[in-house]
Amino acid sequence: MLDTDLDTDISKVIEFRMSSLPPNQLPHVQRRMLVTSALPYANGQIHIGHLVEYIQTDIWVRFQRLRGHEIHYVCADDTHGTPIMLRAEQEGISPQELITTVWQEHKRDFDAFHVSFDNYYTTDSPENQSLASAIYLKLRDAGLIEKRTIQQAYDPVKEMFLPDRFIKGNCPKCDAADQYGDSCEKCGATYAPTDLKNPYSVLSGATPIRKATEHYFFKLSDHRCETFLRAWTQVKTPLQAEARNKMKEWVGEVGESKLSDWDISRDAPYFGFEIPDAPGKYFYVWLDAPIGYYASFLNYCQQKGLNFEEWVKPDSTTEQYHFIGKDILYFHTLFWPATLHFSGYRTPTNVFAHGFLTVDGEKMSKSRGTLISAHSVITTGFNPEWLRYYFATKLNASMEDLDLNLQDFVARVNSDLIGKYVNIASRSAGFLIKQFAGQVADAAMSHPLLNQIRAASEPITMLYETREFAKALRLVMELADQVNAFVDEQKPWELAKDPARQAELQTVCSITLEAFRALSLYLKPVLPQLAIGVEQFLALPPQQWQDITVPLSSKNPIRPYQHLMGRVEASQIEALIAANQ
Ligand code: MSP
Ligand code: ZN
Repeated sequence: MLDTDLDTDISKVIEFRMSSLPPNQLPHVQRRMLVTSALPYANGQIHIGHLVEYIQTDIWVRFQRLRGHEIHYVCADDTHGTPIMLRAEQEGISPQELITTVWQEHKRDFDAFHVSFDNYYTTDSPENQSLASAIYLKLRDAGLIEKRTIQQAYDPVKEMFLPDRFIKGNCPKCDAADQYGDSCEKCGATYAPTDLKNPYSVLSGATPIRKATEHYFFKLSDHRCETFLRAWTQVKTPLQAEARNKMKEWVGEVGESKLSDWDISRDAPYFGFEIPDAPGKYFYVWLDAPIGYYASFLNYCQQKGLNFEEWVKPDSTTEQYHFIGKDILYFHTLFWPATLHFSGYRTPTNVFAHGFLTVDGEKMSKSRGTLISAHSVITTGFNPEWLRYYFATKLNASMEDLDLNLQDFVARVNSDLIGKYVNIASRSAGFLIKQFAGQVADAAMSHPLLNQIRAASEPITMLYETREFAKALRLVMELADQVNAFVDEQKPWELAKDPARQAELQTVCSITLEAFRALSLYLKPVLPQLAIGVEQFLALPPQQWQDITVPLSSKNPIRPYQHLMGRVEASQIEALIAANQ
């Protein structure tokens, strides 16, 4: 039933799990988990690249919930910083007004894609301000904050300090005009903003001047941080191999301190939190953003009567996971654990980084219409579960990029999802309803095909657990192939013509439908809405993971089959591209 390649992969997964997970993570013990996705910036729309992350996390979270674990999934909008302040100014509204509108749009999009946050909050909250301030004061008292005067680019017209991305000029190497302060898009050279020729402020066009200002630094170069981070990234945390290697490079070998201090302050005007002992200075957005995970969770704990301290104290027995994109690894595996550790909190159990989404093999682009907003997917009539399914067929535990190939998308949805899986229900339900009052034959429930499908529960469980969703779905689709082969062989439509073979007909349809129930359960983390339709049709209570062993019963007749999911039309793809151009 399994091809050999998949077979070895699965046994590797099982071996890995059994050997490397602490006993409290074995499946039969109830685990307690806090899970986050990265907090999206509040200055733009959610696009399908973001959705890779929220869908990946949501599948894992739903899987853990179905397993019966205690799991809390929190997120928030990341609201602070210069770009958000400037965008609000441009639109003639306050930053608070801007982030309120954007929050509603983000929430609408996440809901549409069935991303099941337990709390979706904002970093511009009282909880976040008080946590960030307290954490800062702890770091200061530990001797890890240093005040230093630095020279920074300043826009004399706009009267503000300029972040690097707000300065442009001619490339120092090839002289190309209008290049950003870090690298040249024409010749690929990298350099410092001070190297630009004829630099100008993107905000006012004025030539930036150098101006002295006092900044606050988190002393990552302190030997305590270095020692802690080396142990945390190389020994304590089972980071992905690619992430661990990157960290090795960033932290350096013993005695070779490669970490530089981290500038955590910004000058007014800035949309953010003022630093407690430094009027006119604000926390850099990346200081309070990850603390926003805890602020969202604290807000949730207060609503639910959960004990926040128990989850965040250094010796907590709960687990804490952050799903992120590979571009923000540095913040999550260096700054964030160091911030937590030296302010008296526990550190993450693990950080799971994924790769970037491309569309038809290229970076998403506005001009090609492939910077596809989540909202446009919904308004052009796509079923959001098509995309959940497609992403799941591409996702694994690595940081490799993944591609949305639009042709392949249509094929996978129509031929695999609908053709192989959804159609199994329609192939058997009609006869059961018409000829057997919707009742299955109980004796058929131990057929070898069904036992084989149930036995796949173990590898499928391991694959979901280890975020190997593509492999899990491949296995489910192989099982679907076998069910279809069984139907083709048994030919229920012919049995139906022969009154002497009624019992056989009922048996074949019962096996097929029970197989469909099992496959639906395996797909439930990916297709939660479809699963609700299946449960209604089969007259079942909400299915849990262990219900794999509880077959359909004649005592519980099924209801008439109603179409569960439609096909993608090629014209919808064109409409989607057009909507984003
Ligand atoms: N605000 C920060 C995260 C702060 S977390 C304390 C941020 N926001 S973001 O809106 O730019 O990105 C949110 C998440 O979406 C990030 O994990 C990012 O990697 C991910 N993605 C953004 N574009 C993506 C793709 N094209 N493909 C896959 N993931 C992408 O970063
Ligand atoms: Zn150049």
